[in-house]
Amino acid sequence: MKDRSAVIWTRLGPQPVKMGTLAVTDIECRFTYDEGYTDTGLRGLGLVYAPEFFTSTIVRERNEYFDLMPPLQALVPPRSEHNFQRALVLKYLKQINLDTQPGFDTDWNILIRSGHGAIGHLDVFESDEIAIQWYATPSKKGLIELDDEFGFSLKEFMAWFDDDAGILIDLLGPTPTVGGAIPKLMLSIAQSGWDGRIGLPTRFGDTDRTDIILKLENNAQYPGIIELEQLGLEVHREAGFDVPRYWPVKIKGLAALAIERFDRTRTGGTVFMESVYSVLASGSNEITNHYSTSYDHIASAIDNPYVGLVNDRAKAKHHLLERLLLAMLTGNGDLHLENLSFLEKNNETAFSPVYDPTPMRAYSIHNELTPPGMSFGHYGDMNDDGSFIDFSTALLHFSKNLGITRSILFDSIERLVKVTDDYDKRIEALSALPKENKLNLINIHLDIKNKLVSL
Ligand SMILES: Nc1ncnc2c1ncn2[C@@H]1O[C@H](COP(=O)(O)OP(=O)(O)OP(=O)(O)O)[C@@H](O)[C@H]1O
Ligand SMILES: [Mg+2]
Repeated sequence: MKDRSAVIWTRLGPQPVKMGTLAVTDIECRFTYDEGYTDTGLRGLGLVYAPEFFTSTIVRERNEYFDLMPPLQALVPPRSEHNFQRALVLKYLKQINLDTQPGFDTDWNILIRSGHGAIGHLDVFESDEIAIQWYATPSKKGLIELDDEFGFSLKEFMAWFDDDAGILIDLLGPTPTVGGAIPKLMLSIAQSGWDGRIGLPTRFGDTDRTDIILKLENNAQYPGIIELEQLGLEVHREAGFDVPRYWPVKIKGLAALAIERFDRTRTGGTVFMESVYSVLASGSNEITNHYSTSYDHIASAIDNPYVGLVNDRAKAKHHLLERLLLAMLTGNGDLHLENLSFLEKNNETAFSPVYDPTPMRAYSIHNELTPPGMSFGHYGDMNDDGSFIDFSTALLHFSKNLGITRSILFDSIERLVKVTDDYDKRIEALSALPKENKLNLINIHLDIKNKLVSL
């Protein structure tokens, strides 16, 4: 393979600035911070790859899991034919007659073409000229009415924005053709909130609109998932977690959820955000997928004396405990390393607001207490005497690993059990979730509640 290179820019500061240069060879990926970038005081690629630690080139050997440093790999949707985002970009590559070889060649083209303006603070471009041109292009400022003609108007809207993008939207309709993961679109709406109009994502300097992620229901595979996600967000907000604004909407009879993005500033700048997966995988080659370690490991990473992941370690560990407790109580089962992120706000790094708290255990294929491999306090492991570590023992052990006293643990349990007091009734009242799924979820919830109150 010919060596490849790209440039990384960011909008973390008052204006877009170049962060550094990426090079990928057959065996390595290499990243070098630009001379002077450290002086900006801005965050770099990620918390582990901090500019102050890496004055020379960062070199990482490529392997079957990562061709790129994890914070950059996060910009390439996984190689799955079921991934909606990937299918959209592939369609786009085809549209511009770009023939790519399967594998890394395709990933690379996805990265340099759609790795800017995406989630988070990193913008990847093929060259500085393209970066400068992209930043200089103002966004289309208008919002259009989102009505029954959604399919049509969105199509027209995308074409009006950018001829290239028109084709992407052909994939959308009442039943998106790409199954599997939840279809998502990045859009913007009026700053004051959902009013039935949508626009394209903001660019630098935009202040009248706010960015959203529009999640669309995939009713064939996950009937009722949108109202479930809404319920998950509601309960987390009631429990006192920071939850972004969201609006349940109907598009041509299809349920959708518009969720405000917290990785953008009011002026179209970006906010530093990095998933726990990216952080842990940057630090260790043993992290190869988004559930390949325990919650206890996240806690020990938070405690790492050499890398400051958060400003307030004790608070972060308590957050982690409460997120896990509420995930279990609500039947989420999906609190994996990519569903937890660190975010910087007012010069403080902490866990980000809540996203993706959908009670996935309602669907039998996802009915697991935690993602496979992600245990806490050695839950389920075998003791020396051949017995297995039970739920209560594991939870007490986990809490101890977090440095959290029993009394604080019990306070959290009491508080969160109270918040979910009427959770069974709220599941019952959902309108799109099939009866069988409701029953399962209610039983799961009651079972965990019993386990927690009898701890
Ligand atoms: N409100 C938000 N603000 C900023 N970033 C967000 C927000 N919600 C989600 N994200 C980012 O988008 C990613 C995907 O969103 P989410 O986890 O809600 O969907 P998902 O169905 O799990 O999608 P995927 O299948 O791609 O993981 C998240 O991992 C997170 O990085
Ligand atoms: Mg997710």
